[in-house]
Amino acid sequence: MGPFDFPTEIDDKSVYRRNVALLGEKGVTLPTFSELANPFSIPEPLRASLSSIDPDTADPANLYRVHWYNAPDRKGFCETPAHIVLPESLTGVPAKIVVALGAHFPMIGAHKVLAAYSCLAPRLVTGRFDPVRQRAIWPSTGNYCRGGVAISRILGCRGVAVLPEGMSKERFDWLQSWVGDESDIIRTPGTESNVKEIYDKCAELEQDPDNEIVNQFSEFGNYLGHFACTGPALERVYDALREDEPDLELTGFVAASGSAGTLGAGDYLKDKTGARIAVVEPTECPTLLYNGYGEHNIQGIGDKHIPLIHNAMNTDFVIGVSDAATDGLNVLFNTDVGQRHLAQRIGVPAGTIADLRYFGLSSICNILASIKLAKHLDLGEKSVIVTVATDAASMYETEKHGTLKAYGWDGVDSDGAAQLYGTYLKAVATDHVLETTQVDRNRMFNLGYYTWVEQQGIALADFDRRRDQSFWRGLRDLIETWDQLIISFNEESRAVAA
Ligand SMILES: Cc1ncc(COP(=O)(O)O)c(C=O)c1O
Repeated sequence: MGPFDFPTEIDDKSVYRRNVALLGEKGVTLPTFSELANPFSIPEPLRASLSSIDPDTADPANLYRVHWYNAPDRKGFCETPAHIVLPESLTGVPAKIVVALGAHFPMIGAHKVLAAYSCLAPRLVTGRFDPVRQRAIWPSTGNYCRGGVAISRILGCRGVAVLPEGMSKERFDWLQSWVGDESDIIRTPGTESNVKEIYDKCAELEQDPDNEIVNQFSEFGNYLGHFACTGPALERVYDALREDEPDLELTGFVAASGSAGTLGAGDYLKDKTGARIAVVEPTECPTLLYNGYGEHNIQGIGDKHIPLIHNAMNTDFVIGVSDAATDGLNVLFNTDVGQRHLAQRIGVPAGTIADLRYFGLSSICNILASIKLAKHLDLGEKSVIVTVATDAASMYETEKHGTLKAYGWDGVDSDGAAQLYGTYLKAVATDHVLETTQVDRNRMFNLGYYTWVEQQGIALADFDRRRDQSFWRGLRDLIETWDQLIISFNEESRAVAA
């Protein structure tokens, strides 16, 4: 079935019954999207039971942690999603740049586990996916496939990660400890932007009906999961800030695009608050900005194509950030000398210095893009830009060593730290910032034709109907449909367990 054949009812009754029995026997219940959007609505006994569960194990209860409200200990919940308000001393702009943290998500320490759940749950509760017979195939550049493998482990099915061989060692180390079988890690040629090679591998795997490809780049569940859960979570962060400063204004939502799932939160925020949406990509692979292509190291984003689930016609800004900057700041933020420079020479508060570890490469990229946007719009202190830190610096420890090696440095001394700060943070300018016109939006939208219609066989009429905002608004009804299906599924599987 294609991405436009939305699961809305039970497709295969016998698979459905088997799934009910399987999850019932395993004691797995599935959270609804509304519970993940508002985890305080999760029934109290279930919430209480979480306190004794390790967030980094394949325990079914961890499905109830697939949301933004995990406390810093990753065990309890917090009223407001974990976030960091970056001080002007670090950003150089008076606007409030607010970063929501993906690091507290369970199992993978990144919010991509939400995308994986959002794509698989609707298939499971409609009998479209058979976890006993089928392997779930998770094409990705590293975090989504980790999320998929984690969800697969909980369901007791085989999850297969398909990712470029050049991704960070930390991703592969994690995968190795989570997959049952080494052959469930498939390495495709290239690095971050080689997504075509991933698609080719998936096309090959798809020939076997026992493989179910769960393609985040074309699966609207990914978009909707973020629309329904990430959007309201970020709105909650903004509301919390406004409790102290009621005259704040949410000016922008900034997110780099890999699959464009996270950008779904932008559609929510724009509708609710009028915030404008900025999509970010590496200047070394400027597909949206210049129809460009190339290699880069901002892992997780910039995949040389326009995802099918990217609502390109709703994009207000495109911002390019160089991987030289994200690599350089990864070193500055995560070395003692770098942190000392920021604290002692630049005056960055100790609390912020301690928080820098939450920022992986694409998180730094989002921060830099937010600074660019703030400078481009000349925003004042009442403006808020909200963005996300998808994963943390711990995913890029070895990349840091690689960067130092490329510089020919044994380590960082104070001159090196000053150089990194001056070049990559203080000097952030408004280059590669595009405020989109209707012509730009159409150009970006049209570029997707070559991937989706010519290469991946999507019907032209389906491709085209995404141009109109009514298509995206119509999708939202699926969330309620899926929640109802999840509720009935849980009722039946609980009856099996009883
Ligand atoms: C580290 C990292 N940052 C950013 C992204 C982009 O998020 P999205 O796929 O929702 O656009 C990803 C996606 O895999 C990622 O792994």
